[in-house]
Amino acid sequence: MTEVAELLRSRIRDVPDYPERGVMFKDITPLLADPTAFTALTESLAELCTAYRATKIVGLEARGFILAAPVAVRSGVGFVPVRKAGKLPGATLGQAYELEYGRAEIEVHAEDLSRDDRVMVIDDVLATGGTAEASVQLIRRAGAQVAGVAVLMELSFLGGRQRLEPGLDGAPVDAILTL
Ligand code: PRP
Ligand code: MG
Repeated sequence: MTEVAELLRSRIRDVPDYPERGVMFKDITPLLADPTAFTALTESLAELCTAYRATKIVGLEARGFILAAPVAVRSGVGFVPVRKAGKLPGATLGQAYELEYGRAEIEVHAEDLSRDDRVMVIDDVLATGGTAEASVQLIRRAGAQVAGVAVLMELSFLGGRQRLEPGLDGAPVDAILTL
């Protein structure tokens, strides 16, 4: 593991049985509260955005917002929120996706993405991949290209990468940490 990865790993708190029994929650609040770690994470993600020539950063509500917004500022490109359904006031595109129990829907303001955009999706965790996959579908439906998907941590045993990659046409999936 690189020095940065070790620092970031050390600032993620494992919380057993949250939000329900049998689940190990990965709490990123210690990382956010440590300016050295938060800055290092922002720099690492911004380097990916520059390498993949992203012109927009999409952050996924809610935890993805916290990571993606400083990356957009650092990279000098625009930030576009993908929100849970019903929160955006303008004309939206919506995408439903399956959760472990039930369904959810996310939305984006269609006018925020154009055909010329190369979009980097940023979130905290890639678990089953459902959220990231739905965001990729939204970006495509808005007419933009997906430059890549980048997360702080990938829970590899949940298979999100395998779910995501076939729909990405070769765009990369990057995880700073693989757990
Ligand atoms: C969590 C996490 C990712 C998503 C990953 O979000 O922040 O966005 O689940 O899971 P998946 O790969 O199985 O889709 P969640 O909507 O639970 O909460 P948040 O609003 O706090 O980000
Ligand atoms: Mg989330």
